[in-house]
Amino acid sequence: RNFKRQTECRIDISRLNAPFLSIYDSLIPPEEEKGKQKQLLTLLEKLVSKEWPEARLFLYGSCANSFGVSKSDIDVCLATEDPDVNKSDVLLKLADILQSDNLQNVQALTRARVPIVKLMDPVTGISCDICINNVLAVVNTRLLRDYANIDVRLRQLAFIVKHWAKSRGVNETYQGTLSSYAYVLMCIHFLQQRKPAILPCLQGMERTYVVKVDNIECAYFDQVEKLSGFGSRNRESIAQLVWAFFNYWAYCHDYTNDVISVRTGSILSKRVKDWTRRIGNDRHLICIEDPFETSHDLGRVVDKYSIKVLREEFERAAEIMQHDPNPCVKLFEPY
Ligand code: GTP
Ligand code: MG
Repeated sequence: RNFKRQTECRIDISRLNAPFLSIYDSLIPPEEEKGKQKQLLTLLEKLVSKEWPEARLFLYGSCANSFGVSKSDIDVCLATEDPDVNKSDVLLKLADILQSDNLQNVQALTRARVPIVKLMDPVTGISCDICINNVLAVVNTRLLRDYANIDVRLRQLAFIVKHWAKSRGVNETYQGTLSSYAYVLMCIHFLQQRKPAILPCLQGMERTYVVKVDNIECAYFDQVEKLSGFGSRNRESIAQLVWAFFNYWAYCHDYTNDVISVRTGSILSKRVKDWTRRIGNDRHLICIEDPFETSHDLGRVVDKYSIKVLREEFERAAEIMQHDPNPCVKLFEPY
């Protein structure tokens, strides 16, 4: 596979900056969407506090990590006072409450891997998933948002990669491809690895934010306003980075041996993590370590069929970036 590997981009890539930036701009949600999300959250808080006065609601996922495109659903976490409540009971009760308040399409999915209630708010038109006590997700949302505030190229790259993944049908965990969360981690890791680095490794720095969640200590440097010039020694443009990102995943990543790790800002070996063989449904064919739940491989959903689909898509994207006269159109063509 490696025969196609390009060590440098020989085409004139700078002409692609403007079109990539205009795709990025078109995906940014307008300010008014934030307002509507707040409005829905306020309504939910009011309804929840009647039944569970001590409970708190947190936004997580793409509506709070700054990697959300326009018209995304919002993800809400209901944190109860008792961390060991029966989630199904809470969800069924919650579904009742929501339904009586005229929220639409209310559905409790109590058997899902992450049990949730789904709903649609007819006033704002926003759809929402509510989970119970998934506090780790709230904390990793915060980590992603903090990374996004260090260098704007992360948000630009991640929007383009997510847009590509959605257009090409490789952003579907139930079909064995990767979650948006996994793609954002891939982008962060990639920018940590550039020379000079565009992003630091926040978990390897002084611990200014520390919380313990589900017995996992989550700690990192969160005073990111002090890091705003961090990536400025690296002058790579968004078009160069998109080219290099796909080139890396198409031809340079060692799928047999390597694990990418945002936590350490480096590559780890599968052997050290004991991720070399299939255990249960975890096959570890592409390995992305969760920054806090370090035993958790975000690539676990990928199977022997979907790894092929995924790698062919990376190669297609790399080829388009290298040879196509109009990559900004071809890259995002529906599959
Ligand atoms: P879009 O909805 O596609 O815009 O992206 P999103 O950022 O909301 O991502 P996604 O729906 O994939 O996941 C929602 C959040 O769940 C993530 O931002 C993480 O905070 C959290 N999460 C934690 N572990 C996992 C995991 O294993 N898979 C997924 N999908 N999400 C996880
Ligand atoms: Mg989401």
